[in-house]
Amino acid sequence: MVNLQTTFAGLTLKNPFIAASSGLTNSLSKIKELDKAGIGAVVLKSLFEEQIENHTEKLTQISDYPEAADYINAYIQMNHVEKYLDLIRSVKAECTIPVVASINCYKLTRWTDFAKSIEAAGADAIELNVFLLNAGEYGDTYLEDSYISIVKQLKKTVKIPVVVKMAKNMGNLPGLVGKLKALGTDGIVLFNRFYQLDIDINKMEITAGTVFSNPADFHETLRWTAIVSGRVKEIDILCSTGVHSWEDTIKGILAGASGVQLCSVLYEQGVEVIGNMITCVEEWMEQNNYERISDFKGKLNYANIASPSLYERVQFMKYFSNYQQ
Ligand SMILES: Cc1cc2nc3c(=O)[nH]c(=O)nc-3n(C[C@H](O)[C@H](O)[C@H](O)COP(=O)(O)O)c2cc1C
Repeated sequence: MVNLQTTFAGLTLKNPFIAASSGLTNSLSKIKELDKAGIGAVVLKSLFEEQIENHTEKLTQISDYPEAADYINAYIQMNHVEKYLDLIRSVKAECTIPVVASINCYKLTRWTDFAKSIEAAGADAIELNVFLLNAGEYGDTYLEDSYISIVKQLKKTVKIPVVVKMAKNMGNLPGLVGKLKALGTDGIVLFNRFYQLDIDINKMEITAGTVFSNPADFHETLRWTAIVSGRVKEIDILCSTGVHSWEDTIKGILAGASGVQLCSVLYEQGVEVIGNMITCVEEWMEQNNYERISDFKGKLNYANIASPSLYERVQFMKYFSNYQQ
């Protein structure tokens, strides 16, 4: 009998499948469905600082009285936070799976107090989604400095595990993850997928791009999971972005992940896919004589294969020069 239990960021999960932060994790009823379907843990929909600020701004514009504006600001913040805290409390009361709160932040000041309240409400961990796009107005190290200062602050604020959901294209990713680990970061998620945009060439407008990932997006996730896992000692990683099948889950674990976060596949195939994935991973483990996840975790990461440079292969030229024939 195989055992799918895994550990991530100090949490014990019954299996390596985690529901990623999204609209599928924003209510008790949806989370109960995920729980019933067998998910190992959930990351709640993010509390967006941006949302709070925009909403506040709009309402304050309709008020002529500065005192009223102060009141509205305070009320809106409390309302968002209170609803979020209620969700954590109710999920903790009605489900047995670990609950990870998610904060989308880009300034130190606002969310620090949210984090304390989130911990007090019973969240098992906090996932930090540092959302910051450098379109050229910031210096070269701005983004990296932000990650570091935010993690430093959060580690001082809460005792529950702190997980960082990384953006892609971070320059020296293993270097940054190493620094975050040294500051006490308990786990890393590779990667956050940003909102995609497009251009409508008839209306001459910027529009929304594809909402969901596709299976091809997993290749970059896999590459960096293997490299970071091999480069940063004892780092806990979850694969996110492009995980669409049970095979992706096994590949991610072989590359060094403790598990995977699922989002697009849950939207597209429904929560039933979780049970199928669990069964298929169990069967694969049985067929390959693995009893536990730890028996094959990291077996093919950057540090454990004979030619780690295979993970650094990026140019097509040498290997696919005959492709057109
Ligand atoms: C509709 C939707 C809403 C999302 N909302 C959030 C969010 O609130 N916070 C967050 O960190 N990620 C959010 N994400 C990103 C997902 O958590 C996940 O990182 C991303 O979709 C990549 O995983 P996938 O390839 O399995 O879809 C959202 C994704 C989708 C599709």
